[in-house]
Amino acid sequence: MHGGDIYTEGKLKGQELIDFSSNINPLGVPESFKKSLDEALKNVVNYPDIKYRMVRESLSRYEGINEDLFLLGNGAAEIIDLSISTLKSILIPAPSFAEYHLSAEKWGVHIEYFHMKEKKNEDGTYSMYIDYEKLLQELDGVEGVILANPNNPDGSVLDKESVKKILQHCQKTGKKVIIDEAFIHFTLLEDQSLVKWVNEFSCLLVIKALTKYYGMPGIRFGYGITSSKEMRDEIEKKQNPWNINSFAVEAVKSVLFDDDYNKKSIEWLENTREPFVKRLMGFSVFNKVYRTLGNYVLCELNGITSKEFYDACLERGFLIRNADNYRGLSEYNIRLAIKDKDRNEKLFDMLNNL
Ligand SMILES: Cc1ncc(COP(=O)(O)O)c(C=O)c1O
Repeated sequence: MHGGDIYTEGKLKGQELIDFSSNINPLGVPESFKKSLDEALKNVVNYPDIKYRMVRESLSRYEGINEDLFLLGNGAAEIIDLSISTLKSILIPAPSFAEYHLSAEKWGVHIEYFHMKEKKNEDGTYSMYIDYEKLLQELDGVEGVILANPNNPDGSVLDKESVKKILQHCQKTGKKVIIDEAFIHFTLLEDQSLVKWVNEFSCLLVIKALTKYYGMPGIRFGYGITSSKEMRDEIEKKQNPWNINSFAVEAVKSVLFDDDYNKKSIEWLENTREPFVKRLMGFSVFNKVYRTLGNYVLCELNGITSKEFYDACLERGFLIRNADNYRGLSEYNIRLAIKDKDRNEKLFDMLNNL
């Protein structure tokens, strides 16, 4: 169901795989976090501050938002899950991250799907996009909507002016708008996040995480921001105490202010994303390559199913994301993470010899 399963076909069979399935910053764990490990280890003998005051202070300083507006989660997934649990019905894009519908199903939330549209760009890439007029109409039948900025698996970002209209409508009609910004840093667009609007729109909940950009899925830290006290209370009352461990506490305090890591990540993305997409377009095994503002690229295969392609890659030591189980995609879709130059070259070599 998810990327990053290096265990089933890899470690558990004694095999090291090159993982192109999980979309994590290839620069790995920030040095600033490694330096804080002693402190984290020292604190393991104590319960963390149950109010997580220093975590809130760091997040507040980083986002420029009052610290009371934050929800702290065991990964973005916890906040996504609990925010969806507050609804009776939800509109979910197709395709999108599987946890949206899995959470809704788990909590008995009625799901309506809306399908993203697709266009061909001048440079030969493809893009998915939302028909916002249609989305506005479809909101009629539901209590809330979840959108990702950028979306997984295609890497398209939200059109902010159109989302503003959606927010104005939802603010008036009492609907909730959940925006998943787990990959927002990778867009490299300073003004793309909707966080600045949380004070203006209490219907809005924006969710972020350390997971993807800071290369730490194992730390499990994410957060939500909303000015709705009612929404925060509703979510917090479902959370377990001490849901953030001592290592995650130190991670928040260090990595958000790691300018060196940020600089290197920007450099990597600026030098790698476009060439990666262009190189993929040169392989005849791909019928479509999607333009992305994430660190992953959605592709449609040509004459081979994603299952066959997945197996062929696995045989050669590469794990890719078979994307045929995303609602709205087909048995020909796969997703590739963008890695560092060395690993990308290995992937291209493998594709050349396929
Ligand atoms: C769009 C999106 N949001 C959230 C998550 C989960 O993030 P976390 O690991 O912080 O729970 C993922 C993980 O793949 C994702 O793709």
